[in-house]
Amino acid sequence: MQIVKTIAELRAILGNRRRAGERIAFVPTMGNLHAGHIRLVETARRQAECVVVSIFVNPTQFGPGEDFETYPRTEAEDREKLLAAGADLLFLPEIRDMYDPGAKTVVSVKGLSDLHCGAFRPGHFDGVATVVAKLFNIVQPDSAFFGLKDYQQFAIIRTMVRDLNIPVALVPVETVREPSGLAMSSRNGYLTEPEKVNAAKLYRALCEAKETVLLSGGREAYADIERQAQSFLAEAGFKTDYFSICRSSDLAAATPEDREIVILAAVRLGKTRLIDNIAFSK
Ligand code: PAJ
Repeated sequence: MQIVKTIAELRAILGNRRRAGERIAFVPTMGNLHAGHIRLVETARRQAECVVVSIFVNPTQFGPGEDFETYPRTEAEDREKLLAAGADLLFLPEIRDMYDPGAKTVVSVKGLSDLHCGAFRPGHFDGVATVVAKLFNIVQPDSAFFGLKDYQQFAIIRTMVRDLNIPVALVPVETVREPSGLAMSSRNGYLTEPEKVNAAKLYRALCEAKETVLLSGGREAYADIERQAQSFLAEAGFKTDYFSICRSSDLAAATPEDREIVILAAVRLGKTRLIDNIAFSK
């Protein structure tokens, strides 16, 4: 596995591989890799000759008072995991190479970026869309792999790719979970052991809400199901940012007529913020 630190060097290497007829698959990450990230790399490995993974803790997607400084940076372990998963190139750009101090351009997917997590983390999704657009321009991959754990992030990137005619095939990958049901996340490392056990209740709340939506046949108002889930979570010690039954097309509140549903949730447990979701057809 080659490790590349500059945009210029990456472009030169990928230019050669493209000319040799290789397809390029791309997995952008912020590092501290776990089995969820590795699933993306393994999926990419099966679909292309050249698998590029980036690790870049992107400052523009963290708000003031968020965990940019303390975000876990575990480069040596990440490198070992990527080698084992069969990545070809690891791109580790520096902030000063990625962001020109005079940069004036921001990519903003209107509307979608203000909902759900966007309402609690102003500017977060502009930071995500901008860095992903930049990474797509740098890597120019044929395909790019994203986890559905970050469902809203995937919806925003899909919209950006459509609206800006970016020639990349997006591949969504199912959420990888702990045996308890807890979605794997770099931020799970912030949880104490008892909190980690408790954290599995978020997925339980999502599964129960899904069953109620399916069984009630539309009789039980979605707002009531959301309220029940929030009181279950409050009793378990969570502070809920949102727990919302949405239609999957545009993440607006679902009506009983909608068939494709996603329940999106974000909660805080101690000092850790957790997000998760469950998507299904009615
Ligand atoms: P990061 O949180 O490191 O996640 C990188 C990718 O791994 C994302 O596509 C995310 O959805 C996926 N992922 C995380 N946990 C997962 C899980 N349990 N199962 C499956 N996939 C999982 O998301 C980001 O970084 C950044 O916002 C980024 C897109 C890299 C832009 O900076």
